[in-house]
Amino acid sequence: MDLTYYGHACFSVVAGGKHLLFDPFITGNDLAKNIRLEDVKADYIFVSHGHSDHMLDVAAIAGRTGALVIGSWELYTYFGNQGLKNVQPLNPGGKASFDFGTVKAVAAIHSSSFQDGSYAGVASGFVFKTADGNFYYSGDTGLNLDMTLIPRWADIDFAVLPIGDRLTMGVEDAVAAAQFVKTTKVVGVHYDTWGLIHIDKAAAVKEFTSKGLTLLLPGIGESIEV
Ligand code: NI
Ligand code: MN
Repeated sequence: MDLTYYGHACFSVVAGGKHLLFDPFITGNDLAKNIRLEDVKADYIFVSHGHSDHMLDVAAIAGRTGALVIGSWELYTYFGNQGLKNVQPLNPGGKASFDFGTVKAVAAIHSSSFQDGSYAGVASGFVFKTADGNFYYSGDTGLNLDMTLIPRWADIDFAVLPIGDRLTMGVEDAVAAAQFVKTTKVVGVHYDTWGLIHIDKAAAVKEFTSKGLTLLLPGIGESIEV
């Protein structure tokens, strides 16, 4: 599957010819200055939680592309109130089928609130089953045993996991998360955007390799085959 990294926790995956975009945060990311928002393709936009570093550019991209925006009940309500027309709710435990395949929202251990501090529902991850392959995006989360439930539903080809520590899992726990969801291939996100989550990339890759796992760290704007 084709995966493009847009910096922080924003990336897209092409499945069934559709562009699935995740947690768009581009205009607020100094490291993603070279990404033009107008060039970002999206047929679907999945939003893991209400923090601005995961949804800052949702309205702009959805407004331009008409992409279907999917997130918790509270995000669905929020985007509807913002005037977005094409929005659907998906809460943890629920699944929904679309033309690219089926997606299930799953537990994440993380906070979730809007910029003004108001309640944004619970944070979630997403698991995808598509004809092109299956994958898991954990969203912002700490390591948790609920991840061991994921292989019961889907045989994961790769996982997209935060590795920046401090605000989410760090490298060590992301290794354990990969083992919990039974995949050997991880795309690392949510690192280096700010000093607080700066990591040693070479050391991170080495840590994964030492456990028989592969950590992929595409550059911002880079597309890779996963
Ligand atoms: Ni967050
Ligand atoms: Mn975050």
